[in-house]
Amino acid sequence: PTQRQSLKQRAKELLAAKGAVLVAHYYVDGDLQDLAQETGGIVSDSLEMARFGRDHAASTLVVAGVRFMGETAKILSPEKRVLMPDLDATCSLDLGCPPDAFNAFCDAHPDRTVVVYANTSAAVKARADWMVTSSCALEIVSELKARGEKIIWAPDRHLGRYIQDQTGADMLMWNGACIVHDEFKGLELELLREQHPDALILVHPESPASVVAQADVVGSTSALIKAVVEGKAREYVVATDNGILHRMRQLAPDKVLIEAPTAGNSATCKSCAHCPWMAMNGLQGVVDCLERGLGEIQVAEPVRGQALSCITRMLDFTA
Ligand code: 13P
Ligand code: SF4
Repeated sequence: PTQRQSLKQRAKELLAAKGAVLVAHYYVDGDLQDLAQETGGIVSDSLEMARFGRDHAASTLVVAGVRFMGETAKILSPEKRVLMPDLDATCSLDLGCPPDAFNAFCDAHPDRTVVVYANTSAAVKARADWMVTSSCALEIVSELKARGEKIIWAPDRHLGRYIQDQTGADMLMWNGACIVHDEFKGLELELLREQHPDALILVHPESPASVVAQADVVGSTSALIKAVVEGKAREYVVATDNGILHRMRQLAPDKVLIEAPTAGNSATCKSCAHCPWMAMNGLQGVVDCLERGLGEIQVAEPVRGQALSCITRMLDFTA
């Protein structure tokens, strides 16, 4: 067997021996996505990851993704051991929204309902009324608008602008962005569409407005996968992290998948359209965290309890 095969086998044995389940995001290494599928875990978007981790009976969750995903799992299930292959796997949205500055922002606008994206720290969630993910942000903000509430939105300005355009809600925005999606380019996408006039354009809403404006489907990672599986077209242009192509190819092997253009589609960019933090997750990390207890997530009280309410509100609303 190759080294990858032996590592995967070792990871399988450890998951079984430790009573652990693997919860993986679509952007992580394909081997980890396959391992999750083959061992009774899940590969999904961030909303389904949170729900699956909360509801699964395993005493240990291994979360292959970025730190906020592990924290969300721990906040929801403090009695479970939550391990991550690499605790340094963060997110530019989380980094760009430090809790102190965010608290000051909220303090300055006490009349507004605080809505934060899942991609934030536990401390930021502790200040929020609602957490949302890309798959439920539209319906939650629509509901808040219908209730006449004014909103503070953080941290992703592209997702926020998209939701604002769709709902007309009054949203005061934090100025954050995802370093991966921020790189997709509208003009280059127009040129690509001329070469592939029949292709469907699939866009994650963390992308800039010029890219979202050209989309046939805007949605979470799960929604984009569904669009490929169910779509009648043969070709699809995909504007999200290219880790998602692994699952798309498995589920729709006869479809043609084309990566949307980024500024870095050149020799200057080594990780175009692939999140450097998601890329920190590997089979070795899964083996190490299970074998040696490395990478355990802790979320101290009272932050954990405070952050729980905005997550629970979202899960109840979307149940
Ligand atoms: P999804 O919730 O759509 O999976 O997105 C998570 C994420 O980090 C996107 O960059
Ligand atoms: Fe964060 Fe973007 Fe990476 Fe998702 S792809 S984890 S939003 S930096």
